Amino acid sequence: MYVSDCIDINAKGHLTIGGADTVELAEKFGTPAYVLDEDEIRKNCRAFVKSIDDNYNGNGLALYASKALCCKEMCRIVKDEGMGLDVVSGGELFTALSVDFPAEKICFHGNNKTYSELVYAVDSGVGRVIVDNITELETLNKIAAEKNKKVRILLRIKPGIDAHTHDFIKTGQIDSKFGFAIETGEAIEAVRLALASSNIDLSGLHCHIGSQIFELDPFELAAKVMLDFMLLVKNKTGAELSELNLGGGFGIKYLSSDSPRPFTEYMERVSKVVKAYAGELGLKVPFIYIEPGRSIVGAAGITLYTVGAVKTIPNVRTYVSIDGGMGDNPRYILYQADYEIVCANKANRERDFVATVAGKCCESGDLIQENTKIQRVQPCDILAVLSTGAYNYSMASNYNRIPRPPIVMVQNGKARLAVKGETYEDIVRNDI
Ligand code: LLP
Repeated sequence: MYVSDCIDINAKGHLTIGGADTVELAEKFGTPAYVLDEDEIRKNCRAFVKSIDDNYNGNGLALYASKALCCKEMCRIVKDEGMGLDVVSGGELFTALSVDFPAEKICFHGNNKTYSELVYAVDSGVGRVIVDNITELETLNKIAAEKNKKVRILLRIKPGIDAHTHDFIKTGQIDSKFGFAIETGEAIEAVRLALASSNIDLSGLHCHIGSQIFELDPFELAAKVMLDFMLLVKNKTGAELSELNLGGGFGIKYLSSDSPRPFTEYMERVSKVVKAYAGELGLKVPFIYIEPGRSIVGAAGITLYTVGAVKTIPNVRTYVSIDGGMGDNPRYILYQADYEIVCANKANRERDFVATVAGKCCESGDLIQENTKIQRVQPCDILAVLSTGAYNYSMASNYNRIPRPPIVMVQNGKARLAVKGETYEDIVRNDI
C-alpha cells in the first residue's frame, strides 16, 4: 500500500516502520527524527549481492554509494553484508575506516579530490581510486611514487547517455564536470597517460549515468559504450582492461504510483549484455562493480515531524508547518522532489486534506511538498515523510543553526539510536 514493504499501519491506526509504532518513536526520540528499518536495508544489500552471484558468477562487487547515507552504523551494516563501499571524500573514508571497513573494498570517487584526500586514500590502501582528470592522475602518480607504492585506479569515463532524469542529477553527458569524454579523444589520452605512469596500475574504467533511473535500457547502452571503448583501448594501446564499474542510479519508489524495476532485474539484464557483447568484441568478460546508493537506503527510511501551525489562506492554500524542513531534507527546494506524507497518528484515516507542508526555516521556498494530500491534521500531530532514507541526512545542513536530527534504527519493532541528534552545544562547538 505504501512506498515500501517496511511501512504499515497497526491496530491503533498508527503508522509503523519495521514493526515499530512511529508515534511511540516520536515520543521516545523526539522530532524531527530520521527512522530507518535495518531489515529493509539488509534486504536491499542482499538483493544486489545475490544478483551478481546469480547472474554474473560472482565476478563482481556491489559497492554501497555511501553519499546516499553515511554514518558508522551504515558502514557496519554494509560491511556485514559483504558489500564494498564507494566514498567521495576524506570524511566518508574516515567514517568507513573508523569501523574497520576493509580498505581494499573501497573505491574513492570525486571530481576534485584534494591533495590531502589523495594522500589519505593512498596511505589507507583503498582498493581503487576512480580518477576523474589529468591533474589528479599526475598528482596521484607523484604521491604514489613518493611512497614507493603502486595505486590501482579506474578512469571515470563519460559515456554520453541521456538517462531521462532531472537535469541536476544527470552526470553521464558530455557537458558534465565528471570524467573524460570519449568523443573528444581525452579519454584515450588519459588511458595512455595512466599506462605510462610508473606508479599507477590501470585496472579498468568507470561510468555513472545518473540517478533515480527507472528504465534499464540506458544502463545496457552505457555498458555497451564502455565495452566499445575498452576495445578501442585494446586496439590502440594493446592493454586489455579487466574491470568495469557501471555506477549506480537505480530508481526507487517515492510515490505509490512509481514503478521501478526490481533491483535484481538490473544485473539480470546488464550481465547478459556485458557477457554477450564482450564476447562479440573479442574481449575478456570484465569484473563488474555496481554502486547502488539510493536503492539501498532510500525507501528504508522515513522522517518524523511534529505539526505546529496550520495556516489556511482562503482561496490560496493551507500551510502545515513542521519542526524541520530544508535543513534535514533539502530535496524539494533543490529538485522539487516528490514525497508521500502521512499523518502517523491518523494513518488509517482518509488522505483528503490538501496541504503544503512547510519547514521552519526563514526561507519561503522551505517546503517539503506542495498541495499534497494528507490526513486532516492539527497542531501536535505527527507527520511522516516517506522514502527519506537517501540524500536527506547526508545532505542536511545547520541552516538557521537548527541542529541535525538523530537517526533511529529499527529492527523487528525494536529501536536504537544510530546517530545522536545534534545539540545547541554541537552547533557552537567549532566557534571561537
Ligand atoms: N556512483 C556514482 C559515481 C555517483 O555519482 C552516484 C550518485 C552513485 C554511484 C549512487 O547513485 P544512486 O544509486 O544513489 O542513484 N543528491 C541527489 C542524488 C545525487 C547522486 C549523485 N551521485 C538526490 O538527492 O537525488
